[in-house]
Amino acid sequence: PASATEPRPGALAVGGVPLAEIADRFATPVYVLDEAEVRDRCRTYRDAFPDAEILYAAKAFLCRAMIHWMNEEGLGLDVCSAGELELAVTTGFPAERIVLHGNAKSPRDLESALRLGVGRIVIDSPSEIARLAAAVGPRGHQKVMVRVVPGISAGGHEKIRTGTEDQKFGISVRDGYAQHAIARILDQPQLELTGLHCHLGSQITGVKPYLTAVRRVVGLMACLHAQHGLVLPELDLGGGHGIAYRPGDKALDLTSLARKVRAGLTEACSAAGLPVPRLIIEPGRAIAGPAGIALYRVLAVKRTGARTYVAVDGGMSDNPRPALYGVRYAPRLIGRRTTAQPALATVVGRHCEAGDVLAADVELPADVRPGDLLAVPVAGAYHLSMASGYNLVGRPPVVAVRDGRARLLVRRESLDDIRSRDVGL
Ligand code: LLP
Repeated sequence: PASATEPRPGALAVGGVPLAEIADRFATPVYVLDEAEVRDRCRTYRDAFPDAEILYAAKAFLCRAMIHWMNEEGLGLDVCSAGELELAVTTGFPAERIVLHGNAKSPRDLESALRLGVGRIVIDSPSEIARLAAAVGPRGHQKVMVRVVPGISAGGHEKIRTGTEDQKFGISVRDGYAQHAIARILDQPQLELTGLHCHLGSQITGVKPYLTAVRRVVGLMACLHAQHGLVLPELDLGGGHGIAYRPGDKALDLTSLARKVRAGLTEACSAAGLPVPRLIIEPGRAIAGPAGIALYRVLAVKRTGARTYVAVDGGMSDNPRPALYGVRYAPRLIGRRTTAQPALATVVGRHCEAGDVLAADVELPADVRPGDLLAVPVAGAYHLSMASGYNLVGRPPVVAVRDGRARLLVRRESLDDIRSRDVGL
């Protein structure tokens, strides 16, 4: 992260707080969130997309402090469950700046969204239309968007590509599927269609897929205009902006994205004779990811002929991403000086399966030993939000750092927490 400083080797500090101090004070594993970095990233988005509505994708990581920061930075929120929604609203986030997503919204999700008055609900499938209209009721009113699938393959891994045909999200722009669904929405007076939405995928590092999406979605808008005289005021291009997990990795250039999307949108709309809709974007990873660091304590080191295994006190329960998507991280030793040469090591977790590998074949000092601390940068998105209860180890705490101070945001899940849910016998 931009704000990391290293006054002497091994003494990495973030937000003015040495990471080793955080590990000692809060124990490990622990996630550190750099508040200034989160806020800077929100401002970078606002500067790059001054006319757009920027929604933080809560699925990347959510806690009350994060909700508060997003509110202060003027962002909206993209949520996909009653859980995310209710945490936001009970933290004081204005419901009208929240958009609800989901390919399978539960009755509880919808009830919550309608009761709290979310700004917009994104319709993800044709079967949702009648259900939502009924839930809103004949005298009610709800703004909606429609998630369409533009038929584009983009994103860091097959499992996080959502712009392609033949997957669970959205309604295809091909063969009249989206047009048919939209005609049905227009028949429901209580649903006000404000725009189209598409989310191509996640960890996208190039601008091109977004430009193709703009052309295809504006193409659909033109058909809707011709067919129904419909002029939609909003276009939501989703999130997916790729970040660098290791030094040298490619990240999406936001300034270039903003400039080219703006130009592409203006051109496509003027060719179609449509006014330029207000742009909405939904970044999650690019706001939270680089601002987070995971800290682990080394518990065991096994040197075999083939490999050195460095086993830490966390693993796939707090970071399932290497196991799920083959993502590569760059862990580093912190908290002590060493003159040892770098050597290849494989950092593994504490869980009871061989696939619990956090970082294969990375360079660590050859003298790495039990008791050492490892920091894994770029751990702020889709780690804790995807954390599991595997092996009942308890989910790690989150500590915010800012101006030389550390404060606990989310406490560690204790054995009592785990026991208290277990009510049978
Ligand atoms: N909008 C929608 C409708 C989404 O589904 C997502 C992510 C986003 C926005 C935010 O995408 P982002 O800017 O964070 O890439 N667990 C995976 C990522 C799954 C993303 C799901 N949807 C991972 O760890 O890479």
